[in-house]
Amino acid sequence: MKVEEKKVAVYEGKDIKFIELENAHGLKAVLMNYGATLISLFVPDRKGQLADITLGFDTFEEYLGKNPYFGATVGRYANRIGGAKFVLEGKEYRLAKNEGENHLHGGIKGFDKVIWDVQLKENSHSAGVNFHYLSPDGEEGYPGNLDCQVNYLLTDDNELHISYLAATDKPTHVNISHHSYFNLAGEGKSHILEHELQIFASKFTVVDRQLIPTGEIKEVGGTPLDFRLPRLIGERIAKVEGGYDHNYVLEGLGALSLAARVFEPVSGRLMELYTTEPGLQFYSGNFLDGTIKGKGGQVYDKYAGFCLEPQHFPDSPNKPQFPSTILKPGENYKSFNIFKFMTK
Ligand code: GLA
Repeated sequence: MKVEEKKVAVYEGKDIKFIELENAHGLKAVLMNYGATLISLFVPDRKGQLADITLGFDTFEEYLGKNPYFGATVGRYANRIGGAKFVLEGKEYRLAKNEGENHLHGGIKGFDKVIWDVQLKENSHSAGVNFHYLSPDGEEGYPGNLDCQVNYLLTDDNELHISYLAATDKPTHVNISHHSYFNLAGEGKSHILEHELQIFASKFTVVDRQLIPTGEIKEVGGTPLDFRLPRLIGERIAKVEGGYDHNYVLEGLGALSLAARVFEPVSGRLMELYTTEPGLQFYSGNFLDGTIKGKGGQVYDKYAGFCLEPQHFPDSPNKPQFPSTILKPGENYKSFNIFKFMTK
C-alpha cells in the first residue's frame, strides 16, 4: 500500500494537494483536497493493463474553469431542491439558485468548490485519505454549522470505499454524494453507450421538465429505464428525452447493498457499486458537448462518461413522503459506498 501527497498550488490562502493511493495490484486513485475530488482512478483490464477510467483534468487550475463536477464531492445537498427553498421546523430557508430557479449540488459554492483539510491514513491492507470541512451556518442558505468528513480508502481487494460523516448544531438537510464520470474503456477513448449496465431497482422517481421530482414513484417495467437485467446503455437511450438523468429507488433499506453493476466488454472491466443510500442517480453525461478538453487535451463529447451517484432522493426537503434528509443536533449523518473493480 502506498499513500503520497504533493502540494500543487496555493489557492485562497490554502495549500492545494494531490494525494495518491496505490494498492498491491497497482490500482491507483489520485485525489485532491479542492472539492474532495477523485481526479483519476487507474484500474487494470483483463490483461492487467492500467487505464484511467474517470473523466477530469490534469491540473488543479483547470478544475477552476468549466467543470461539470468531475469526480467531486457534492453537497451539502447532492442533486436538486425545487424552488431553492424548504421549510424546516416552521422556518423557511432560501438557498442559492444555481440552475434557473432551483438549487443544484449544494449551490454556487458547494462542497465541490471548497478546500478540505487533509489527513493521510495507511495500514497494511488499505491506503486512505480523510478530508474534513466545517461548513458555516448559513452557507449557501443552509442552517447550522455542519462538520463534514469524506473518507476515501483503497483496499487490496480492489475496492474504493467512500464514506461521508456529518454532524450539525441546528436542524438542517444533508445529502452528500460522489460525482465521478466513469468510462471503463478508459477516459477520453470513446462514449459509454456500449457499456452494459444493471441497476438493482424496480422503481424511479418521476421528474418534471426541470428534473424536479413530481412526488410520483413509478415502476421501471415497460420503460427504457428498466435495467433490472443487464442492458447496453445506448440500446434505448434515444427513447429517453435528454438521455438518462434519473433517480432510482434502491431496495437496500439503509443496509449496504449492491446497487449497480457495469461491464465494458472490450477491456473486460467490471465495476460494482454498493451503497447504504436509498437512491441512485444514473446520469449518462448528456450535458457534455465537446466544449470541455480534459486530461491530455482530449475532448469530452456527449456520453463520454456516466455517473452513478448514490444519494437520497432529489428534492426530499419538499417531499415529506420521501426518506428524510433532516439531520438534527446530536445525530450522525452517515453514508457508506463501495466501488469494486474486477474483470470478466
Ligand atoms: C447530476 C445531475 C445532472 C447534471 C450533472 C452535472 O448528475 O443529475 O442533471 O446536472 O449532475 O452536469
